[in-house]
Amino acid sequence: MSTPVIVGFSGSLSSASSTRTLVEDAIKRTVARFKRSSETYDLGQVGTDLGSARSLFDLSEGGRHIVDRIVHAKALVIACPVYKGSYPGLFKHFFDLLDPACLIGKPVLLAAVGGGEKHALMVEQHLRPLFGFFEAQTLATGVYASGQDFADGRLVSPAVIERLERAIGQFTPYLERPFAPEATFSGNVTPLRRQPENLAVAR
Ligand SMILES: Cc1cc2nc3c(=O)[nH]c(=O)nc-3n(C[C@H](O)[C@H](O)[C@H](O)COP(=O)(O)O)c2cc1C
Repeated sequence: MSTPVIVGFSGSLSSASSTRTLVEDAIKRTVARFKRSSETYDLGQVGTDLGSARSLFDLSEGGRHIVDRIVHAKALVIACPVYKGSYPGLFKHFFDLLDPACLIGKPVLLAAVGGGEKHALMVEQHLRPLFGFFEAQTLATGVYASGQDFADGRLVSPAVIERLERAIGQFTPYLERPFAPEATFSGNVTPLRRQPENLAVAR
């Protein structure tokens, strides 16, 4: 199966997850606008061996497949719940395992979901610096939602939806025209298939 153009990743372990709902909503809107293929995953699907993994080789096949999809996507939608004012530790650990060069230049829509409004700057204070480390092309507009922005398992807040649509619009240079090789990272890091040395834990 060919790699989807847009990959969503929710950093939540919850079974009924607002973070996953937000990622799926964002992916649906992005696909509707740019007519590209997509897949969505969440942290729970990476596998129970994630917590003790010291390198990508320690992950299950399913976990390595998700990494492969993320690394080869043309664009990413990444969201996580707010835990203690930041991202969950296991979400960070997942990204700790990736090669530092594997997201260079990749456009990423960043989003977070908290219980309330107090930590609305979490995207700017924590998520954006993490993807800055990876030299990803984070979209200028970050999206934050809280519990009351969802109803019946759907994102319903007009303000959050408007912000989400604005962020999605910022994918335009990357997704609207035929893909230019320079638009996303196209270096020689092939993290899972051909270059095992690139799998080392980033230190
Ligand atoms: C361990 C833990 C810590 C949390 N810390 C915060 C927090 O600091 N600020 C906040 O706004 N919400 C906090 N929450 C609430 C979650 O961010 C919120 O319920 C979120 O919607 C969960 O997303 P999910 O449905 O995808 O699991 C916390 C929840 C848990 C379980």
